Amino acid sequence: MSVICKLAASILSADIASIGQSVKEAVSAGVEYIHVDVMDGVFVDNITFGLPIVRAVRAATDAVVDVHLMIIHPSQYVGQFADAGADIVNFHLEAAGDPREIASVIREHGKSPAITINPWTSIKDVVPYLDAVDMVLVMSVNPGFGGQKFLPQSLKRAEQIKNYISQNNLKTQIEMDGGITAKNVRDIINAGADIVVCGSSVFGADSVCGAVKEFRQIFAGALAE
Ligand code: DX5
Ligand code: ZN
Repeated sequence: MSVICKLAASILSADIASIGQSVKEAVSAGVEYIHVDVMDGVFVDNITFGLPIVRAVRAATDAVVDVHLMIIHPSQYVGQFADAGADIVNFHLEAAGDPREIASVIREHGKSPAITINPWTSIKDVVPYLDAVDMVLVMSVNPGFGGQKFLPQSLKRAEQIKNYISQNNLKTQIEMDGGITAKNVRDIINAGADIVVCGSSVFGADSVCGAVKEFRQIFAGALAE
């Protein structure tokens, strides 16, 4: 199995007062993606960031800006988030009217579309759209908050999606988000995740640099196999 192993740091756990500095620190420590969790208080029970934070993150780094929209009516906003500086725009299948249409709007804005599924959404529901997006984000907690416990059934879900992708010769990458730590990340990579999102285990760590180093050592082990 080919492994990719990229680390996406979620700014949900970062110091927002100095967001530019937090982003720069994570990227210089070795994080490849900066993950921005946009929550509207309707699709999930929490409200976080909007377009100005995406612009601030974009201004701070050349790393991949990975925006995760936990909002209703994503079709109304994906273009604005693309223009604000997202490289990847994730929208939830559960909130999407026509996922193919939303993906094509994101592509028209020159950015990469990704579709996200909640832990209780059937894999069967996302499979028809995997060819329309560059990435599928498999939630491994219920979306809305950082610091939750990883749902172990997420491993099997990643494996099922990975099998479908390989059997159908697709290039869709798999991202996993929620409850990921240095203790469980190896199992998550083995299950087929290409990119892992870490909030509390990176920005919430005593040392961002030390935490990223630990993840990278685990990745090096997986890549060497
Ligand atoms: C949760 C968000 C996650 C969150 C992950 O709804 O989508 O990106 O930041 O945080 P941790 O890594 O703490 O579970
Ligand atoms: Zn997220």
